Amino acid sequence: MNPSRHIKGVCIDYTHDGKGVVKHEGLPIFVPYLLMGEEAEILITNNRGKYAEGKITKRLTTSPQRVTPPCQYYEVCGGCQLQHLSYQEQLKMKKMRVAEVLRRMGDYNGKVDDIIPSDKPLHYRNKVQFPFGHDERGNLIAGLYQQGSHRIIDIDECLIENTEADQIVRLVKKLCIEHHIEAYDQKYRQGFIRHVMVRKGIVTNQLMVVLVTGKINFPERQIFVDALLKAFPNIRTIVQNINPEFTDVVLGYREHILFGDGYIEDELSGLKFKIAAKSFFQVNPFQTEKLYNRALSIANLTPTDVVLDAYSGVGTITLLAAKQAKHVTGVEIVRDAVLNAIENAKLNEIRNVSFIEADAAPYLVERAAKGKTYDVLFVDPPRNGCDEAFLKSVKVIKPKRFVYISCEPSSLARDIKYLSDTYEVKYVQPVDMFSQTYHVETVVLLALK
Ligand SMILES: C[S@@+](CC[C@H](N)C(=O)[O-])C[C@H]1O[C@@H](n2cnc3c(N)ncnc32)[C@H](O)[C@@H]1O
Repeated sequence: MNPSRHIKGVCIDYTHDGKGVVKHEGLPIFVPYLLMGEEAEILITNNRGKYAEGKITKRLTTSPQRVTPPCQYYEVCGGCQLQHLSYQEQLKMKKMRVAEVLRRMGDYNGKVDDIIPSDKPLHYRNKVQFPFGHDERGNLIAGLYQQGSHRIIDIDECLIENTEADQIVRLVKKLCIEHHIEAYDQKYRQGFIRHVMVRKGIVTNQLMVVLVTGKINFPERQIFVDALLKAFPNIRTIVQNINPEFTDVVLGYREHILFGDGYIEDELSGLKFKIAAKSFFQVNPFQTEKLYNRALSIANLTPTDVVLDAYSGVGTITLLAAKQAKHVTGVEIVRDAVLNAIENAKLNEIRNVSFIEADAAPYLVERAAKGKTYDVLFVDPPRNGCDEAFLKSVKVIKPKRFVYISCEPSSLARDIKYLSDTYEVKYVQPVDMFSQTYHVETVVLLALK
């Protein structure tokens, strides 16, 4: 089908990232912002062979599930993909996606529980990460990337982020403009400010501000610190993170602490957690307790269980599991997160835990070679899932129960298929951690066959 052609079609399905799917002459066409059952006139923008891409030129019918997106930047900004869909329907779509991906890629045809909904589908994120750049006229801008591009959209308020964090980004932008500080251009290694990251402890109200800069020299730092503290007295720490690399990765290796101790504290399920800039912490604190509670309840821990928590971050699951088990080991690759986890164990007076700074795969390969056993395994890996070497060692060690927490259904499906000769899927629970976006978290219980 030639690009520039106009067709008419009805949406019959959704892609993994929430676009509508229309079939024309047997070819699937992916159309952003078209909802199931809606008919539209569509302009074909790309033909990729197995599928084409199109955009709505005129919508002919309206789904009862269509709502007015609350955000003024929606359809320009790439942060959210589902604001035009009612929240109830977002939940259904995510459950369907988990079921479909597990069936197609994981050979799992069993039950998928209803998704655990959020009571706060807006302003739920405790972490904001805005890139800085310049518009065509050279003005400093800060916001989110445009859908599928590296163009920054200047944004004053993001409806899924924390309001205070948005205000801090605006203040940093104002200070940069006042002091003629430009955004860092990684290609020409010019300018200064790259990103501002703000993290908030939702229970403690503590704020962390991280100024990510392309260069070290920051003569205005005290002016920034004073202005930020004056406007937001609940800032607990301000960090300058230096990232001069040509990369999409936000945080660089080096840090200068400009104020405080370089961490904030927050609380979850009655435990306290110290969190440094480079440490992972779930971005939706309102859903995290529900996620962890479900993971722990299906693990069915007993006081004799020896447990491994792989990809353990600042030790959240490790410490919660330790309250029910004999001993829990957390394995995590980021040094600052491991240091936080060790302190978090002390802070909460939990002694039956150990934290190892290691890549989870070689660590487990070595444990398997030494004949080490665990009764229960938790994993909560990044989007690309577990390494094959890790899963191979799981099949050698054979923990009786294996709780897999995943933020990407396709890598989860791949991993449960790989494990299927040794493990049976007993329970699948999606959780809505990322409302208004297509992302979905899933907790799976696998039992040794
Ligand atoms: C999705 S987070 C989960 C963290 C923690 N379980 C939680 O809920 O807060 C994944 C964690 O895996 C860590 N990680 C990434 N690759 C790793 C690897 N190869 N080995 C061990 N940890 C890794 C990341 O630094 C991050 O802390």
